[in-house]
Amino acid sequence: MLVIVKDSYDLMSNEAAKIVADRLRKKPNLVLGLATGSTPLGLYKELIRMHREEGLDFTKVTTFNLDEYVGIPPEHDQSYHYFMWENLFKHINVDPRYVHIPMGMAKDVDLFCEWYEKRIVDCGGIDLQILGIGANGHIAFNEPGSSLGSRTRIKTLTGTTRMDNARFFKNPNEVPKYAITMGVGTIMDAKEIIMLANKASKADAIKASVEGPITAMCPASIIQLHQTAFVIVDKEASTKLIGLYNDSWESKVF
Ligand code: F6R
Repeated sequence: MLVIVKDSYDLMSNEAAKIVADRLRKKPNLVLGLATGSTPLGLYKELIRMHREEGLDFTKVTTFNLDEYVGIPPEHDQSYHYFMWENLFKHINVDPRYVHIPMGMAKDVDLFCEWYEKRIVDCGGIDLQILGIGANGHIAFNEPGSSLGSRTRIKTLTGTTRMDNARFFKNPNEVPKYAITMGVGTIMDAKEIIMLANKASKADAIKASVEGPITAMCPASIIQLHQTAFVIVDKEASTKLIGLYNDSWESKVF
């Protein structure tokens, strides 16, 4: 695990984009794991700029998203499908046939989850997984208490998560009760991981993940066991760390 502390959100995002671009240039058919949420927006913005101005090519890339709400159609403006197309895919030259986002409208969710796991393996496994982190240490929809060996499955959203999300929905009854999420074990199978965090509200979660005990009560703490994981944070998210960390990934070897 390599922890990198940058001075600002933009520098954090650009650092992550440099790694993604480097891996993509070395392997044009990269299998990329992607996250939604506010944290990776700066990374996606920088990748879009690199695509437009530097010709960064996504035509051979395969993507797998971490999660999606159950019961919300892809065209719903709160679906993770909608988020990904609005904030990344429609601005780059990704081939829609190679995009994978869990199907929240799947008739048989368990069967879909099994298929998703198999599809990842059939595509050669995820080369590079992008992650955000929740203030409580969750990754994807793996809330505290999730099994550290879990695979893609349906999860019940916690009351807090549903309350947090209620503001995005016109009608409170529309707030999803369930989500499909890659498991902690699925995430750990990625060959490389970049976990991003910014803002002071993430400082405790970053401290617990990077320097705390490895525990299901902070699912992100499992990242300490990954051989090739980058944790890239801004200054505010780094304030609780006691270790001394790097400010760049280049020339560092694991
Ligand atoms: C999103 C996801 C979530 C977020 C996390 C942080 O696909 O998997 O775990 O990464 O909730 O969200 P933000 O970035 O909005 O703080």
